[in-house]
Amino acid sequence: MDTSHKTYALTTLPGDGIGPEVMREALRVVHAVGEVVGYTFTITEALIGGAALDAHDNPFPLETQNTCLAADAVLLGAVGGPKWDHHVGDMRPESGLLALRKLLGTYANLRPVSVPESLASSSPLRSDIVAGTDLLIVRELTGGIYFGEPKNREATEEGEVAYNTMVYSTEEIRRITRIAMQWARKRKNKLTLVDKANVLVASQLWRDVVRKMHKEEYSDVELDVLYVDNAAMQLVLAPSQFDVIVTSNLFGDILSDLAATLPGSLGMLPSASLGGRTGLFEPVHGSAPDIAGQGKANPLAMILSASMMLDALGRSDAATVVRNAVQRVLDEGYRTGDMWKEGCTLCSTEEIGKRVTQYAVEEIGSLAA
Ligand code: IPM
Ligand code: MN
Repeated sequence: MDTSHKTYALTTLPGDGIGPEVMREALRVVHAVGEVVGYTFTITEALIGGAALDAHDNPFPLETQNTCLAADAVLLGAVGGPKWDHHVGDMRPESGLLALRKLLGTYANLRPVSVPESLASSSPLRSDIVAGTDLLIVRELTGGIYFGEPKNREATEEGEVAYNTMVYSTEEIRRITRIAMQWARKRKNKLTLVDKANVLVASQLWRDVVRKMHKEEYSDVELDVLYVDNAAMQLVLAPSQFDVIVTSNLFGDILSDLAATLPGSLGMLPSASLGGRTGLFEPVHGSAPDIAGQGKANPLAMILSASMMLDALGRSDAATVVRNAVQRVLDEGYRTGDMWKEGCTLCSTEEIGKRVTQYAVEEIGSLAA
């Protein structure tokens, strides 16, 4: 156990909807673990998304930008909600999040999806299909159709037209592929490239670049290529065939929500966005406005995102303790409503957060003994 004392500057962006309540639980866990193993987080909380629009008429105010740039890590809850749905373009809450990813240069978004034994029966899919799933989606996060120019909506004589551009450079594909290949080597040594090379020229470049890198630098890794429509079907039919998936920004967005059905809830999926100077850690789920403020939200994706942050900061012992505590909570049948089933104990957001905290602290105690 690494008990070296260190202080980390953490910027927290709770955001909208359930963001603040799941953030509270993640901070409860990391603070408590830090107290025992010896690290400290100094927290600067800042506004993003709808909350920032309400206060400053800007989804990503300069003050928020500066505190994120100065931080050792950034933890984000969720952005968006019906209150701001009439906003368009750069005034949407989501555009604050996209600008944050771009500013930090976090081009590699890691979204692990696993289905432990205790969750196999929570999935809407048959448990014999989902059991044993352990995959990692490596989503390109700062390029592609999310950011490509030109993009516009304009009036013509035939009525309005609108367009976006899916653009990728060789270097953008190479750097994300490098990360995905390295993860494959650390895992089961298999990489699946997901694209739409039968239709899109941008995907044809992905295929050429990834195949060339595979041949020249990573021939020890097993490489598979799938069209995105087929990949969506395979993820539901036989998810355990996957190890690491590398894909573009848009396809990664869509496939990660699909993959969330495997453990049974989007409330379980964490993510880490790396590649820049400062890492950004956020759950895959959105702001869930329908249940916000009711203590019903599942904090585990946020807590697991915080454990990915601990890993990235080099506190992998602490990260493992948090992951084990989450596992124990699930094994013992404690669930928020999104994952509750007969025989389980229904818990509030806070009850889950407190239980994870307790189990994490207990495990450190038993390791020290
Ligand atoms: C995600 C979200 C975001 C995305 C939205 C909120 C902009 O869906 O992180 O998956 O599309 O990237
Ligand atoms: Mn998404």
